[in-house]
Amino acid sequence: MTAFQYHNSSLRCEGVAISEVAEVVPTPFYLYSKAAIHANLDAISTAFGDVNPLICYALKANSNPHLLRLLSACGIGADVVSGGEIYLALENGFPADKIVFAGVGKTDAEIEYALSRNVYTLNVESLQEVGVIEEIARRLGQQARVGLRINPDIDVEGHPYISTGKASNKFGISLEEFDALVERLPSYSNIKVVGLHIHTGSMIDRSQPYLAAIECMRRLKHKLEAAGAKLDYVDIGGGLSVDYHAPLESPAERIHAIISPLAAELRRFDCRIIFEPGRSLVASAGILVTRVLYTKHTGDKHFVIADAGMSDLLRPSLYSAHHEILPVCPNDRPLRHVDVVGPVCESGDFLAKDRLLPEVERGDLLAVMTAGAYGFVLSSNYNSRPRPAEVLVNASDHKVIRERGTWSDLQREVTDSRENS
Ligand SMILES: Cc1ncc(COP(=O)(O)O)c(C=O)c1O
Repeated sequence: MTAFQYHNSSLRCEGVAISEVAEVVPTPFYLYSKAAIHANLDAISTAFGDVNPLICYALKANSNPHLLRLLSACGIGADVVSGGEIYLALENGFPADKIVFAGVGKTDAEIEYALSRNVYTLNVESLQEVGVIEEIARRLGQQARVGLRINPDIDVEGHPYISTGKASNKFGISLEEFDALVERLPSYSNIKVVGLHIHTGSMIDRSQPYLAAIECMRRLKHKLEAAGAKLDYVDIGGGLSVDYHAPLESPAERIHAIISPLAAELRRFDCRIIFEPGRSLVASAGILVTRVLYTKHTGDKHFVIADAGMSDLLRPSLYSAHHEILPVCPNDRPLRHVDVVGPVCESGDFLAKDRLLPEVERGDLLAVMTAGAYGFVLSSNYNSRPRPAEVLVNASDHKVIRERGTWSDLQREVTDSRENS
């Protein structure tokens, strides 16, 4: 069971009929289930058993402030990759001492902000970055806590855009650079190495890449400790996959199958374990609701033209990502292979290609499933389209947690430059 189920010929989220939300909130809009977010967090925590890791939610997956408050209230931490995400994490209840700051291109201003707000740690991604943090920390009269993000050259075999742990990826410190860094450790007086970090990629659907990363960190931890460092934490990154093909099934079992085999290995570390889930916490808890504007047939192709497109949900266009598309009010019309496309002026603007769907008509509502992660955060104003609204369902209530963008949002910059001319 998930929060999304059909009941009385209508797709519902918890106790709310999605068609009823669409009567008051203009489409397209994202809709999230509070219960599903809690259930996902619970499934992840349970799967780790007595390892009891510090779970740091990766804000990049979905940084809606209301959802951030919901998650921080559960007592977890935050994984952030920009000054903006540090700001959002702090504003929305994540304590500084549970914030881990990663990112391959931290600016000086972001590093200074992180240090001045005393975040738990900065996971550094290059030797040069270590030098920059040392300098900034010296200027601030601080000792910066850092973790070394390692590039372990592990292939998680997913889409190349979401693989981050191969030697050819830009992320992390290579194993050769790591040895050079360990030698230089005594020369840093304003840096304290307190952790190790690996994030090998997203959509990891088996335990093996995690086990390989854990093994790698065990070796590197020994090297660091032999050089005099005392580690507070080992951070195994995020990357736990979700099943985009099974949106009406609970993810708890597969979360357990992938994560629980890690527990025995993690228990052997004598320090805190950090896990940084993004997608697995929120993807299955959200959908994008869109309305059919037109249907059209050209040659042997059938198009369903929806009012949501790549500016609302980029993943299909960017990664050829699969999202199930379900009718909000199912019917028994015949099935037909269709391309579900958006209104944006790009042939690459689609939500699904060659998908078998019951015939749809102008005005029908469609739910693009498993859209709670890397959905709204990747939306844009391309074609001067306002960003979609976001709605949160809690039991039988729903509320708008971000209003739809407006045309005047689009005009803001232009007004400023007119004033200057
Ligand atoms: C450092 C780091 N941690 C955690 C995550 C979250 O990954 P996911 O959403 O796949 O769990 C990412 C995603 O890119 C990341 O770069």
